[in-house]
Amino acid sequence: MALFNLFLAGALWPLLMVQHLVRAAPTESTVQACREIADQLPAGRVAYPLQLAYTVETQRYWSLALRELRPACIVSPQDAEQVAAAVRVLGNHPDVQFTVKSGGHDPNPGHSSIDGGVLIATREMVGATYDAATGHALVKPAGEWNDVIGDLEPSGVTVVGGRLGIVGVGGLLLQGGLSFLAAQYGLAADSIVGWETVMPNGTIVNIDAKAQPKLAVAMRGSGSQFGIVTQFTIEAHPIGQVWGGARIYDESKKDALYAALHSFVPGNADDPKAAVIFTDLAITLNGTAAIVFYFHEGPDKPTSGPLKPFLDIPPLVDLAKTQSYAQLLKANGDLGSLSVARFSFRTFTIPYIPTNPGLYAEISAKWRDIASAYLTILHPTAQCSTDFQPLPAVVGSRSEARGGNAMGLTGGDPDRLVLELQCGWINGLDDATLYALSRDMTDWLQGRLPEWLAQAGLPADAYMPLFMNDAAGDQNVTGSYRGYAQYKELQASIDPMGMFSARAGGYKY
Ligand SMILES: Cc1cc2nc3c(=O)[nH]c(=O)nc-3n(C[C@H](O)[C@H](O)[C@H](O)COP(=O)(O)OP(=O)(O)OC[C@H]3O[C@@H](n4cnc5c(N)ncnc54)[C@H](O)[C@@H]3O)c2cc1C
Ligand SMILES: *[C@@H]1O[C@H](CO)[C@@H](O)[C@H](O)[C@H]1NC(C)=O
Ligand SMILES: *[C@@H]1O[C@H](CO)[C@@H](O)[C@H](O)[C@H]1NC(C)=O
Ligand SMILES: *[C@@H]1O[C@H](CO)[C@@H](O)[C@H](O)[C@H]1NC(C)=O
Repeated sequence: MALFNLFLAGALWPLLMVQHLVRAAPTESTVQACREIADQLPAGRVAYPLQLAYTVETQRYWSLALRELRPACIVSPQDAEQVAAAVRVLGNHPDVQFTVKSGGHDPNPGHSSIDGGVLIATREMVGATYDAATGHALVKPAGEWNDVIGDLEPSGVTVVGGRLGIVGVGGLLLQGGLSFLAAQYGLAADSIVGWETVMPNGTIVNIDAKAQPKLAVAMRGSGSQFGIVTQFTIEAHPIGQVWGGARIYDESKKDALYAALHSFVPGNADDPKAAVIFTDLAITLNGTAAIVFYFHEGPDKPTSGPLKPFLDIPPLVDLAKTQSYAQLLKANGDLGSLSVARFSFRTFTIPYIPTNPGLYAEISAKWRDIASAYLTILHPTAQCSTDFQPLPAVVGSRSEARGGNAMGLTGGDPDRLVLELQCGWINGLDDATLYALSRDMTDWLQGRLPEWLAQAGLPADAYMPLFMNDAAGDQNVTGSYRGYAQYKELQASIDPMGMFSARAGGYKY
C-alpha cells in the first residue's frame, strides 16, 4: 500500500473542508428513525452533530474526503442485540438510508460513510479472543488489525488478515481480504467459519459454514449485503516469529524489482510461506520510487526460494527483520499512517504472463503517463501508485479446499495479479479529476487485456474477477464474479424488502 509522506500543515484543513460543507438537511423520517433508535437503546448510544462523540466518529476515516460527510445521527451499539434493535427501527422506515462502518478504511464515499442518513458504527465491538478448545478466534468487527493480531499473539495463534496493522477489520473480512498468509490458507474470508449477523429482518443469526455452506460462500467476499456482522468465528492458525518488513528503493532498482516480481508469482507455490506487496510510485518522491513489503513465516531471513531475487537488490531503507507477527503488522501500519490525504482506490485483475516480463514496466509507465498530468509542481504532495499484488494459483487451491468464496477462486485458476491503483491528494476540488485518471487507467488496462490473455495462452473469457477491497465504488465488482446471478438471487431471498440492496452503502448484487 502506498505511502506518500504527506506532511501537511494542519491549519489548511478547515479551509479546504469549508468548500464541501453544503449539505441537505436529513429528511423528517430520518430524524424520526434516529429518535426511535435512541429510545430503544441505552442512553448515550446515539450521537448528533455538534456532540463530541459525533465529531470524533466522523473524523475517524482513513480518507480525509469521508470526514466531510454528515450523517443525521451516529448509532454506536455495544452488541448484536442493540444492532438488532436499530435494524428493526430502520425496517419500519423504508425511506431512510443507512450504512455500516467498522474501520472506515474503504475510501469510497457512501460505503462506510453517509450524508444525511443513519450511520451504524461498530466501534464499541473490538478485539479478539481465542478458544483453544475449538481452535477458533472470535473476532469483533471494529478496531484495526493491530487489535486482533495483538490479542491473539499471546496464544501463539493468528488469523488470516490485513497486512498493515492500521487497517480496519470488518470490511476487510467481508470484502475478501488479501493477506501475507493467503498462499497458505486462502483469502482472509476463507478461514471464517461463523458470522454472528443481524439479518435484514432484525433477527440475530449465527451463520454457520457447515450448516449453511451456500450462504457461507456468499458471505466470503460479498461485502455488506446480507446483514450486519457483529462477530466473526475464524479458524486460527499457529504463528511464531516471522521475517519481514518494508524496503524502500530508488528509481535505478525498478527493472531488477520487476524481474524479481516476475519470478516470484509462479515461484510462490514452491514456498507458500512467502509473500510480497510491491508498491510502485507513479512519481519518485524524495528518492523513493518503490516500496516492497516482505513477509516470510518463520524466524529466518530467506536465503533461497522465490524471495531471493528481491533480497539481492540493495534498498535505500531496510525495515525488514525477524520479529513477531504483531510487531511486523504494527511497523507496516506505522509507515502507512504517514499518509494524510483524500484517497481513491481502483482495481484490475491481470493474468500472469510467463513470456512477458516487461508487463509491469509497461503498466507502470502508462500509469505514470496518465497521472503525471496531475502530479506536477502544482500538487507537490499528491501521489499515485500501483500495487502489484500476486494472486498465484495456489491461493485458489486453498480457497477451494476451505469451501470457496464469492470471488470464485478455485484450484483451476491461473496465476494472476491484483492491481491496486491508488491516488492521494489534498484539495477536494480535485476529486473528480483524480477519479477520472484512475478510470482512464482501467479503461486502458481493459483495452490491453485481450492481448495479454492471448500472450498467457488463456481463453479470451478467462476468469479475472475484481477484488472488492481495492475497488472504486463505480466498479461492477460483484458483476465480475462467476456466481453473480446465484448470489443476487440468494441476497434477494434474505433481503426481500431490499433493505441492504437499496438503502445501505457498499457493493451490490
Ligand atoms: C492502508 C491500507 C491498507 C490496506 N491493506 C489491505 C490488505 O492488506 N488486504 C486487503 O484485503 N485489503 C487491504 N486494504 C483495503 C481494506 O481491506 C478495505 O479498505 C476494507 O474495507 C477495510 O475494512 P474496514 O473495516 O475499515 O471497512 P469499512 O470502511 O468500515 O467498511 C467497508 C464496507 O464494508 C461494510 N461493513 C463494514 N463493517 C461491516 C459489518 N460489520 N457488517 C456489515 N457490513 C460492514 C461497510 O458498510 C462498507 O461498505 C487496505 C486499505 C488501506 C487503507
Ligand atoms: C526527504 O529526504 C531527506 C533526506 O533523506 C529527509 O531528511 C527528509 O525528511 C525527507 N522528507 C520527506 C518528506 O520524506
Ligand atoms: C454488473 O454486472 C452484471 C453481470 O454482468 C450485470 O448483470 C449488471 O447489470 C451489472 N450492474 C451494473 C450496475 O452495471
Ligand atoms: C429472518 O431472516 C432469517 C434469514 O433469512 C430467517 O432465517 C428467519 O426465519 C427470519 N425471521 C423472521 C421472524 O422472519
